[in-house]
Amino acid sequence: MKTPRELKVTPIRNGTVIDHITANKALHVLKILNLPSQETAVTIGMNVKSSQMGAKDIVKIEGRELESAEVDKIALIAPQATINIIRDYEIVTKGKVKLLETISGIIRCANPNCITNTEEPVDSLFYVTSQEPLVVRCYFCERAMDQAEIENQFGPL
Ligand SMILES: Nc1ncnc2c1ncn2[C@@H]1O[C@H](COP(=O)(O)OP(=O)(O)OP(=O)(O)O)[C@@H](O)[C@H]1O
Ligand SMILES: [Mg+2]
Ligand SMILES: [Zn+2]
Repeated sequence: MKTPRELKVTPIRNGTVIDHITANKALHVLKILNLPSQETAVTIGMNVKSSQMGAKDIVKIEGRELESAEVDKIALIAPQATINIIRDYEIVTKGKVKLLETISGIIRCANPNCITNTEEPVDSLFYVTSQEPLVVRCYFCERAMDQAEIENQFGPL
């Protein structure tokens, strides 16, 4: 039997580790963050074993701390995700994404006739009617949207 040589993933000096991502959703998370880009080092683990989740994805991004609007989008895709901010190789903040009871402005209503799509200044607003699997309902026209419709809004992978 062969034993593997130890292969360590390079730690990041400054940046963000997004841990506990729903298995197989790492690419959706990267899509939300407009990554990979030419100058950002990204390490992705998919279907990694996790004691808490069975399987999970993990994304490590060098040189970038996430903005709260990005964290709010990630909550729609990976509601268990934890956001670890790394500075000088140490975790300085450990946060959890938060799926609120209402979602304002992040996604668009799928109904083209909805007032949020026809009247310019009206922001979208949804109630979360189910968290997992995610289902939201438009406050204005009551159109329901499921996980797949929401993911599609972030564009093709
Ligand atoms: N400098 C770093 N570079 C790359 N990854 C890092 C760095 N520091 C921590 N991590 C990663 O960040 C994640 C969270 O680290 P932590 O040490 O808090 O692990 P943990 O105790 O398993 O956390 P949790 O309780 O959130 O599961 C781990 O996946 C760890 O490998
Ligand atoms: Mg852990
Ligand atoms: Zn609507």
